[in-house]
Amino acid sequence: MNLILMGLPGAGKGTQAERIVETYQIPHISTGDMFREAIKNETELGLKAKSFMDAGDLVPDEVTNGIVKERLAQPDTDKGFLLDGFPRTLDQAEALSEMLQDLNKKIDAVIEIQVAEDVLVERLAGRFICRNCGATYHKIFNPTKVEGTCDRCGGHEFYQREDDKPETVKNRLAVNVKASQPILAYYKDAGVLYPIDGDRDIDDVFTDVKAIITK
Ligand code: AP5
Ligand code: MG
Repeated sequence: MNLILMGLPGAGKGTQAERIVETYQIPHISTGDMFREAIKNETELGLKAKSFMDAGDLVPDEVTNGIVKERLAQPDTDKGFLLDGFPRTLDQAEALSEMLQDLNKKIDAVIEIQVAEDVLVERLAGRFICRNCGATYHKIFNPTKVEGTCDRCGGHEFYQREDDKPETVKNRLAVNVKASQPILAYYKDAGVLYPIDGDRDIDDVFTDVKAIITK
């Protein structure tokens, strides 16, 4: 099962991805996570990506396409994969089609999580992440069960993302709204686009996700 999760910043891609990969045991390929890891490790890729991410802009297509191509060539993707945050431009969508053709694979479903922009601003402002395992929470909408302790790994250290500052969020949303329109049309034409209402309880959204995957 080869899946793409689409949605604006804060729509809940990462939150749903955690549940999907646990339930279906497929690798989670998040370009945002890959860039953040590269920045943390101060690699060449991290250096290339940092200024774009800090501004809330998109990292150039040739850089992004390159890391996805490398990742999709790994054997663990033979059982399926979940792309989160890629493709984000029409150029990336076309590059992905070529990569998959070379690998004799295809996309089974593109799940688009729809959430209104004012809700997204609130979600990003309250997001916090476990420093140890990367689990994502929200101060109000999705807190840890025990305050200060990660539900998943028991860790006690959390952080907020650099690009969740209000001034960056504004640009991230604008950039992504503009970039997403042609890709949604591209996958709609291909007959694989499944929009879902993401402005509901996390478990209810996941119920819809599972229904699409089962179908
Ligand atoms: P990336 O890391 O992909 O960020 P993003 O697209 O901006 O999306 P987020 O990760 O912020 O949101 P999400 O949808 O995962 O939401 P989450 O589940 O965390 O990309 C970051 C940057 O990297 C980009 O700006 C760009 O610079 C670069 N980049 C990455 N990919 C690229 C590409 N392909 N091309 C070029 N550049 C690229 O949830 C958000 C919050 O809401 C959390 O607090 C969560 O607990 C809460 N929440 C989730 N679901 C619900 C719900 N149903 N109800 C209430 N609260 C909820
Ligand atoms: Mg995410």
